Amino acid sequence: MKIGIITTTVREGRQSLNVANWVKKLADERKDGVNYEIVDLKDFNLPIFGAAATAEQGKAIEAWGNKINELDGFIFVTAEYNHSFSGVLKNALDFLKPQFANKAAALIGYGGVGAARAIEQLRLVLAELSVATTQRNVNLLLAADFINFSEFNPQSYQLPSVTELLDQVTAWSKALKTIR
Ligand SMILES: Cc1cc2nc3c(=O)[nH]c(=O)nc-3n(C[C@H](O)[C@H](O)[C@H](O)COP(=O)(O)O)c2cc1C
Repeated sequence: MKIGIITTTVREGRQSLNVANWVKKLADERKDGVNYEIVDLKDFNLPIFGAAATAEQGKAIEAWGNKINELDGFIFVTAEYNHSFSGVLKNALDFLKPQFANKAAALIGYGGVGAARAIEQLRLVLAELSVATTQRNVNLLLAADFINFSEFNPQSYQLPSVTELLDQVTAWSKALKTIR
């Protein structure tokens, strides 16, 4: 079983890859037989959905679709931009539909209030893509899990939530595989 840990921001100085690397380390330590992989949206460099795409951008769209297709589940690492998830992520999601269907996802957020609002909005969009989102989120706080609001330094009290989230997303990813 393959689960992708998806970064959802691409700006210079972003935190998403730091958080994603932390999640991958914790997931790998479980030695649960699942193959956890970081899927960095920045690597795909997707064009704006609907705009004319160059041949190279066409290949990027195809690579993005193939990557999501080969995964059984997802952990979205989401920031909060203006009380929602990033425009870059929404743009990337709009390219795909069947590749996501009947799979599970868990959401890990970071922000002033742990990206709680972004997470709830992302759930609604994923529902339309027939992705089942787990009950457990992880909400990393800029004031507590980052030094000076900028250096990622997660508190140990977050660990039980990560374990619960990974338990839920692996169980649902496995279960949903049976209906695809
Ligand atoms: C355009 C923009 C909008 C933001 N809006 C919010 C917000 O609504 N709520 C919040 O808690 N943090 C907000 N922030 C702060 C982000 O949570 C923080 O900068 C975080 O590190 C962004 O993720 P990134 O580093 O992966 O880009 C915003 C940051 C940016 C750049």
